[in-house]
Amino acid sequence: MRDPEQQFLASFVLVLGILIGVAVGPVALADPEKPAAIPAAPISKAEAVDAPLTGPEVYNEICVSCHAPPGIGGAPALGDTDAWAARIAQGMDTLIDHALHGYSGSTGIMPRKGGRVDLSDEEVIGAVEYMVEQVAQ
Ligand code: HEC
Repeated sequence: MRDPEQQFLASFVLVLGILIGVAVGPVALADPEKPAAIPAAPISKAEAVDAPLTGPEVYNEICVSCHAPPGIGGAPALGDTDAWAARIAQGMDTLIDHALHGYSGSTGIMPRKGGRVDLSDEEVIGAVEYMVEQVAQ
């Protein structure tokens, strides 16, 4: 028979061992080489380029350089009713045709697709619609 003190010490060490195991175990098991979470795969460049731009995006990226108020080089400024009324009166088809293919009117030169020929027709049309919407109230 072991004496009670020895027995107590044995169970005390056992409990201590379990506690340390529980507390330290997961930390010790974790591989320090592995990052805690695998970062999400970045969007590939091809995908980002393929995604069509919205009208406001095209306007804010390209058209804004001339069409921002007060309008550079004779360009009708965004939201300027006086500058746009007669143009809108020509009809959307003409506005879109001029934006897509470029034209030189009485106030300046509108370059084809605002100079960004890599834009799709739909993207440019979206920007024209956006610009017209800012006037029509
Ligand atoms: C380099 C400057 C410049 C950029 C960039 C530009 N424009 Fe223009 N835009 C003009 C000028 C100048 C006119 C006015 C031409 C005139 O009537 O003599 C014009 C006119 C227009 C008109 C009116 C056409 C009409 O028949 O009256 C539309 C629509 C238009 N631009 C759309 C756009 C769109 C959409 C973009 C962006 C994709 C864009 N523009 C980018 C200079 C620019």
